[in-house]
Order: sequence, then structure tokens, then C-alpha cells
Amino acid sequence: MQPSIWKCLEGASLICGKRAMITGAAAGIGKACSHLFAAQGADLILVDCREQELKALASDIAAATGREVLAIGTDLTREDDIDRLFKKISETNSPFQILVNNAGGGLPTDIFEITADEWNRVISLNLTSVFLLSQKAARHFREQAGGAIVNLSSIAGRSTSPTAGCHYTSAKAGVLGLTRHMARQLAAFNIRVNAVCPGVVNSERLVRRMEERGTRKSVDSSIPLGRIGDVDEVAGCCLFLASDLSGYVTGASLDVNGGALML
Ligand SMILES: NC(=O)c1ccc[n+]([C@@H]2O[C@H](COP(=O)([O-])OP(=O)(O)OC[C@H]3O[C@@H](n4cnc5c(N)ncnc54)[C@H](O)[C@@H]3O)[C@@H](O)[C@H]2O)c1
Repeated sequence: MQPSIWKCLEGASLICGKRAMITGAAAGIGKACSHLFAAQGADLILVDCREQELKALASDIAAATGREVLAIGTDLTREDDIDRLFKKISETNSPFQILVNNAGGGLPTDIFEITADEWNRVISLNLTSVFLLSQKAARHFREQAGGAIVNLSSIAGRSTSPTAGCHYTSAKAGVLGLTRHMARQLAAFNIRVNAVCPGVVNSERLVRRMEERGTRKSVDSSIPLGRIGDVDEVAGCCLFLASDLSGYVTGASLDVNGGALML
């Protein structure tokens, strides 16, 4: 067995001594990943367009764990902002070994109502930004002889979604193609690329939406495990794919949906 796996099984922190960039860190799954990764010994680079919430989260995590936590406000739909993000990382000399491409989200617009502008915005946030960040991170990882990329796709990308629009489904399916392609090309540089596909998960945004529509009970009962997922349960899967426990896993997508895709 790989010595690093023994270390993990013996209870050593899974990603101790590494630094992880997590996008969309100010809320939901990204926030859960930030807490979990820091608790497991990683330093963090937190990225989100909501700079105030991000900075507050960064100081909370740093105070609670003693980890180094950088917070960099970035609009991931803007290429110049992504360039600025990487410039800051090189200026602050913050090499990182893990990228979690988590920022994303959809709109429930009907297929007949989606404009070209809205299509481009959803694709830009959910797919183009994942490509741009992964490409830049891969250049950085290549110099350091390896790294791990975890992309948040969705059950919508594996199937369809009754609530999100077709632009979201297309972007999340695109993330799965991008994951496989990058995994194949980057394996030679010891860079692993995997995806996580959550079903319905209790991020603040989704819970609010279900409460407004009064659909929580029916959503819970439509899932084989009888409930929607918890953001920490998705974060745990991201941690697995970012750590040496999954050292021989690349190009994979992990379903985290309480069994919803079996139906
Ligand atoms: N929650 C679910 O049920 C669910 C299900 C399947 C897939 N997902 C995917 O998981 C990921 C996280 O989902 P969530 O529900 O935790 O989301 P969320 O809406 O709770 O949080 C998303 C975060 O991304 C940030 N963000 C949005 N646009 C941005 C931009 N242009 N630049 C930088 N940051 C931006 C937001 O400010 C927010 O903090 C997304 O990719 C989502 O598509 C979520």
C-alpha cells in the first residue's frame, strides 16, 4: 500500500501541509469545503465575488484552525479578474496543490425564454471559468510535479434537472467532458482531475427556494434515502478526491445524490 494511504488510515490529516484554492467559498458547498479542508490541515485560498462574506469566513477559519487563509474577491465570469487572481497568488508566493472548482449556479428559465445573453452568462460561470481556472492551475501544478482538481458538476449534468434551465444542464454536462479530457492529458504531469455530481443539497440558496415554493417535503420523499443531502456530505467527497486516499482515481465522476439517479 502507498505510505500516504497508511498515513491517512492511521488518522493523520488527509491534506496536511497542502494549500487548496476553493471557488464559490462564501456559501453552501464551497463554505463547507473551506471549513473541512482547513480542519484537515490545509491552508486555503478562498475565492468568491462576495468579498465581504469571504473575508469574514477567512478570518473565522483562520482563528478556529490556525491555518493560513487568503481571501481574494474575484468575479469568475471575467477573464481579467481570473488573471488578477493568479497574479495575486504569485505576488504573495502562495503555491497551491488543490483546486476545487465549486462556484456555479443556474437559473430556472424555460427553454423558450432563454436569451443568448443569459445562455452565455450561465455557460461562462459554470463551464468557461472551470476551464480557465483549471488551465492556469495545471500550469502551476506542472511546475510543482503534481496536483488535484475537483470540479463540481451536478446530477443535472448526468441526467437533466426538473428545475434548472437547459443552459445549466449543458454546462454541467460540459464539466464532465472537460474533467475526462483534462484528466487524460494531465495524467502525465501527475495532475488528477475528477468531478463530484451532487443531487439536491441543503445550501442556503436551495433551502430558501424550496421553502418559497413549499416543495421541501415532496423533494425529500422523492429521494431513495428519504432526504436531501447536506453540504458537508458533498464536502467530504471533495476531500476524498483532493487527498491521497484517491491517489489512483482520475477522470472519474462521483454521484452524491442519495440514490436519486437509480430511479
Ligand atoms: N446545492 C445543490 O443542491 C447543488 C446540486 C448540484 C450541483 N451543485 C453545484 O455545486 C456548486 C455549489 O452550489 P451551492 O448550492 O453551494 O451554491 P451557492 O449558491 O450556495 O454558492 C455559490 C457561491 O458561488 C459564488 N459565485 C456565484 N457567481 C460567482 C462569480 N461570478 N464569481 C465568483 N463567485 C461566484 C456565490 O457568491 C456563492 O458564494 C455549484 O457549482 C452548483 O452548481 C449544487
